[in-house]
Amino acid sequence: MNIRKMTEHDLDAVLLLEEELFSAPWNREHFLFELYENPFSLCLIGEIDNQVVAAGCAWIIYERAEISTVGVRKDYQRKGYAKQMLNMIHQTAAQHGVHHIFLEVRVSNRPAIALYESFGYRVTKVRKNYYSDNHEDAYEMVAEVKSLVR
Ligand SMILES: CC(C)(COP(=O)(O)OP(=O)(O)OC[C@H]1O[C@@H](n2cnc3c(N)ncnc32)[C@H](O)[C@@H]1OP(=O)(O)O)[C@@H](O)C(=O)NCCC(=O)NCCS
Repeated sequence: MNIRKMTEHDLDAVLLLEEELFSAPWNREHFLFELYENPFSLCLIGEIDNQVVAAGCAWIIYERAEISTVGVRKDYQRKGYAKQMLNMIHQTAAQHGVHHIFLEVRVSNRPAIALYESFGYRVTKVRKNYYSDNHEDAYEMVAEVKSLVR
């Protein structure tokens, strides 16, 4: 999988991916904000044969980063592509001097929790009622960058 920065030209494919994967998908305006207006945003896509099969965004804010979304097309899951995407985000964060990476994940999202735990992220908090669509709780997870990038 080739990973590169997301551009506006990718958005039709990225929005289809969002619709396939998330109960509350990001919309075009949200991605345009990330691409053009949020100075802290890093948005990447993964492509195979010129098709977008993965996407991931993070906010890199000085010594802290937050993974805001990561997803892999259903027919490409369990092939290590989310790992590749996270490795790229971790490396970029390390190059920017980030110390800790945070994320929130639905408490019911076993695949994503297993993915993050496989890197060494640990749960530090439960955020009650975090998701407005179904009032689900979130785990806040964190990892130290120096343990992610060797
Ligand atoms: C979570 C998600 C990104 C994982 O993508 P993926 O490309 O299938 O993940 P990988 O193949 O890189 O898996 C890496 C590791 O994560 C864990 N993992 C991934 N999917 C899993 C699943 N369905 N069940 C259990 N563990 C899983 C495993 O430890 C796996 O390693 P292994 O395959 O050697 O056992 C994907 O399931 C997805 O897009 N889900 C919908 C969107 C989403 O929920 N994103 C996270 C929002 S916080």
